[in-house]
Amino acid sequence: MHYSVMLEEAINSLNLREDGTYVDATLGYAGHSGEILKRVKRGFLFAFDQDINAINYSMEKLSKIASNYKIIKSNFLFIKEKLEENGVLKVDGILFDLGVSSPQLDDAKRGFSYLKDAHLDMRMDLDNKVSAYNVVNEYTEADLARILFTYGEEKYAKSIARNIVKARSSKPIETTLELADIIKHSMPVKKTLEKNPARKTFQAIRIEVNHEIEILEESLKKALDLLDINGRLAVITFHSLEDRIVKNLFREMTSVPELVKGLPEIPDEYKPNFKLVYQKVITPSTKELEENSRSRSSKLRVIERIR
Ligand SMILES: C[S@@+](CC[C@H](N)C(=O)[O-])C[C@H]1O[C@@H](n2cnc3c(N)ncnc32)[C@H](O)[C@@H]1O
Repeated sequence: MHYSVMLEEAINSLNLREDGTYVDATLGYAGHSGEILKRVKRGFLFAFDQDINAINYSMEKLSKIASNYKIIKSNFLFIKEKLEENGVLKVDGILFDLGVSSPQLDDAKRGFSYLKDAHLDMRMDLDNKVSAYNVVNEYTEADLARILFTYGEEKYAKSIARNIVKARSSKPIETTLELADIIKHSMPVKKTLEKNPARKTFQAIRIEVNHEIEILEESLKKALDLLDINGRLAVITFHSLEDRIVKNLFREMTSVPELVKGLPEIPDEYKPNFKLVYQKVITPSTKELEENSRSRSSKLRVIERIR
């Protein structure tokens, strides 16, 4: 079952106009896109996803709701280029709901889950060449340790990386459960009894396979470029590194540069082009947290073009 995170909060934050042009950068299972289309009756929605399974599902779902939309199979890194190809240079709102969807995690074949046995894959875009198998079997010990530590905040990153390299020296590590077993034996037994010991490592490898952190800032900058005056960009993140990127970028785009801060009159060219829609980050309601524990770490930030 797919549960759209902060559905109402995100949709309301976009301040949708019935005749506006909108972009859902992460279509997924079309929870947010469906709601956007219900409200944007005379406008248009462009929806991006890099996962063909998500697109196939959502194509059918959205066809029952409306016809004023186009689904684009692409990484959202190319949001600007793809919209340009469609003759669109400015839009009224863009939503990013980052990360993976529950159906992706739950589908054993995709190799995202440490609970289900499958070939190590974790690619959102099945056309991509590099999968979790390549990361686990081909990266150096130092790179593995760095990734696990940075993207997974895994305290036992070094020991896990060492054991991965040791295990693969006799035969490649092929499956999710083989990897989960190596992780489990790389930390004190006490730790393995708390949360699932493989959780952080799997998250880190998934982020690496899909370049989730590397492409975020550039993608968001392109999205900001696309916003028309009064247009809004709403971003839902699930990871502290992602949220930091969004927070810092939004802060930079909404502030006056240090250089001119003290001046009695700020010259026009230094005035920010954007404002924050909410001063504080939005998190899920208690009700949502009770209904969907996966929304636990989610955060919503929204920015608006004012000039
Ligand atoms: C959390 S889900 C979105 C769920 C969606 N908002 C809904 O209500 O059903 C994230 C989706 O974005 C897609 N995705 C993640 N990163 C992407 C990227 N860089 N480019 C395109 N799609 C991406 C994933 O394949 C996944 O389907």
